[in-house]
Amino acid sequence: MINLDQNATTPVAEEVLAELVRCTREYPGNSSSGHSIGLTAGNFLEECRKRVATVLNAKHPSEIVFTSGGTESDNAAIEGIAYAMQQNGRNHLITSAIEHRAVLAPCEFLAKHGFELTVLPVNNVGCVRIEDVKKAIKPSTALISVMLANNEIGTIQPIAEICALAREKGIAVHTDAVQAAGKLAIDVQQLGINALSLSAHKFYGPKGVGVFYLREGTAYSPWMLGGTHEHNRRAGTVAVPQIGALTKALEYAEAKRIKHGTELRRLRDLLIKLVLEKVPGSHVNGDVKHCTPNTASIRFDGLYGGHLLRKLDALGVLASAGSACMWERTKPSHVLSALGLSDDQGSGTLRFSLGYDNTEAEIREVAEILARVVPEIRHNPPAEIQPPLVRASH
Ligand SMILES: Cc1ncc(COP(=O)(O)O)c(C=O)c1O
Repeated sequence: MINLDQNATTPVAEEVLAELVRCTREYPGNSSSGHSIGLTAGNFLEECRKRVATVLNAKHPSEIVFTSGGTESDNAAIEGIAYAMQQNGRNHLITSAIEHRAVLAPCEFLAKHGFELTVLPVNNVGCVRIEDVKKAIKPSTALISVMLANNEIGTIQPIAEICALAREKGIAVHTDAVQAAGKLAIDVQQLGINALSLSAHKFYGPKGVGVFYLREGTAYSPWMLGGTHEHNRRAGTVAVPQIGALTKALEYAEAKRIKHGTELRRLRDLLIKLVLEKVPGSHVNGDVKHCTPNTASIRFDGLYGGHLLRKLDALGVLASAGSACMWERTKPSHVLSALGLSDDQGSGTLRFSLGYDNTEAEIREVAEILARVVPEIRHNPPAEIQPPLVRASH
């Protein structure tokens, strides 16, 4: 298989898998237990917290909270901060139209439960405009949640500028950085954010474990209730072996980024160049200059992306029609619609997302395959697969 669907998930790196096995063997205890086995696990947990804080340049290790993944970190950040800020009389939330559902859904939930929500539009390459943020801010604004990099088109958002604006007004800022880790430098102090989400399975770690960075002093009302774990911010027995693997994975991905980030971008750019050359009627969505180095969202005129996706799969190439968790959707992606693309343009789009294990030979092979199969599908769409697209009525 040629895996160009690495925004959906990344393969677990060998050394991360070895660390998961080692930690499972060596830290069997409950990190909250007072006996020696528990204390050993607890000490290792605090070591992991320090190492993650170092990679993210957090001021204090205690600002790192371990969670079950990106979705939990997003929910915890948005609901935890929103409810705490509500106690100070602020009940207005701002997010963007291209967020992952893990951000949009809790925002929409809060909008049904006493909060006011503003959803910012994006420009035609998928970027939030700072003027729109300025216009949206009110005295009652509690939280702005805008992602660092988009999962479908890779666009990088002006988070540091948003934070500078929000700081003056006492507004908290959360960023979903799930698609940024291992691809962009993440420095929480330089960004100036209050909260940030990460998920290990997007950076060569296991599924089901993530990071929620919460800047010291940020108003927060714990979202997951129960025991006093994670310095009272996230209840539940702590998954020490998975956290050991996450920590190793974050260091691994960061080292890859520093050493091989330029090559990753070169391969992505080569894919785009070859596809645009070899496949007439193909176009890039978004702005590759302000984009994660691994992501290419490519639109093919006159075909349904689902047909192409299945054909590629049959030929051993993995790609995606949008975000992996939206595979069953019946409408084109909300991200592509937010860029101003029509339903047909959205449904003719595939996402190719590379990882550090992809090679130039693979990229060249995929371009050759696309050059062959796109015209075939255009002329002879497979009758057995009906596009599940239901056109949006607005
Ligand atoms: C931008 C973004 N946020 C959040 C998530 C959810 O993360 P997890 O799969 O760890 O729940 C994803 C996963 O696709 C994502 O791409």
